[in-house]
Amino acid sequence: MKLILLMAATADGMIAKDSLHPVDWSGKADKKYFVRTTRQAGVVIMGSNTWDTIGKPLPGRENIVMTRDKTRKSNDKDLIFTDRSPARILEDLNARGFESAALIGGAKINSLFMKENLIDEIHLTLVPRLFGRGLTLFSEALDHRLELLDVVKIEGGHLLLKYRVLHN
Ligand SMILES: NC(=O)c1ccc[n+]([C@@H]2O[C@H](COP(=O)([O-])OP(=O)(O)OC[C@H]3O[C@@H](n4cnc5c(N)ncnc54)[C@H](OP(=O)(O)O)[C@@H]3O)[C@@H](O)[C@H]2O)c1
Repeated sequence: MKLILLMAATADGMIAKDSLHPVDWSGKADKKYFVRTTRQAGVVIMGSNTWDTIGKPLPGRENIVMTRDKTRKSNDKDLIFTDRSPARILEDLNARGFESAALIGGAKINSLFMKENLIDEIHLTLVPRLFGRGLTLFSEALDHRLELLDVVKIEGGHLLLKYRVLHN
């Protein structure tokens, strides 16, 4: 099963100003790409801070929210709160027949999956803005090599960069 990390970043490499900052700045073309790719996958995985900035399940997709907070509960079959490990989450999706899944942030949850070498591709929209400081793609030190698969100019000044993560 393929895991794609889908993120938007500013030209100075920020994904948000802080943990509560919603992604309302990435542009129309990025949103369209996000919806298409996540709907194709059928499942999105995110951390609880990212969930809090979205506030409702993304429709037509299974929403898996990673949290250790047992008070977070759901009666919606498409909204699952879990404290399972990244590997267990992917094993379960694989067993249920998903061919791909979208990891959609934030920095902390991205790091958990990256440290375990579970991310296959990174699709990064580079947005022509600067935040100066904030959160970056990952919250921990890493050292991974990437292979550039594609670059597409998706709207005025926005670039979509597709990378394969090289696992060696
Ligand atoms: N630019 C973009 O494309 C993009 C995309 C997504 C998000 N973002 C931004 O990123 C920010 C949020 O990122 P973040 O790094 O602060 O938070 P996050 O990764 O979304 O969520 C972190 C939270 O997940 C829970 N968690 C951590 N480790 C866990 C584990 N092993 N098992 C289960 N749950 C675990 C913890 O909360 P509990 O207390 O609930 O356990 C932790 O505080 C927001 O501003 C959001 O808008 C940007």
